[in-house]
Amino acid sequence: MKRIVVLISGSGSNLQALIDACARSEINGRICAVFSNVADAYGLTRARQAGIATEVVEPGGFADRAAYDAALADAVDAYRPDLVVLAGYMRILSPAFVNRYAGRLLNIHPSLLPKYPGLHTHQRALENGDAEHGATIHFVTEELDGGPVVLQAAVPVLENDTEETLAKRVQAQEHRIYPLVVSWFVDGRLAMRNGKVWMDGEALSAQGYQL
Ligand code: GAR
Repeated sequence: MKRIVVLISGSGSNLQALIDACARSEINGRICAVFSNVADAYGLTRARQAGIATEVVEPGGFADRAAYDAALADAVDAYRPDLVVLAGYMRILSPAFVNRYAGRLLNIHPSLLPKYPGLHTHQRALENGDAEHGATIHFVTEELDGGPVVLQAAVPVLENDTEETLAKRVQAQEHRIYPLVVSWFVDGRLAMRNGKVWMDGEALSAQGYQL
């Protein structure tokens, strides 16, 4: 059984989708631990309710990002993960951390990358009058929100949308696609090589897998 560690900072609804998919055996893996940089993140409660080990590593007390990330990685490595999943983890990761987990570090981002890397993605999509918005799962590289795309899900932007209604529509899709991608990875179907995503031995285009 492949070992998965999940990093969160907040509500953990994507974590919950992964927990549920593991429980239904839709993911052939086990979430060994959930890490948070925020002590009262609700996702930690979700993990505890599912009987998963939790660890909080708060940034206070570390000299800099490199020192924090080194301590975080040492703690993560204690769980010997095959895959590290960022699920609403809201800290920028240092190059050393990213390189340590190269090819086994996934992130979900609430936009159709390369559109809107960074924060406030729903607000930016609304302000620009976009007809379409969505979420992207990608392998993590040193470039912020810039690693190769595995899978995207698009949703329509509706006339009366607010940030909240749009975020909710995007998140519903996130909960569908993240467990799917994690299942592909643990089944050995998915890899990152030479800066590209490979699925079942074939290199994917820049838009990722087409469902
Ligand atoms: C998700 O919508 C995810 O795409 C986003 O944070 C939310 C976490 O929700 N991630 C980022 O913005 C990363 N840059 P959750 O805690 O309920 O899963």
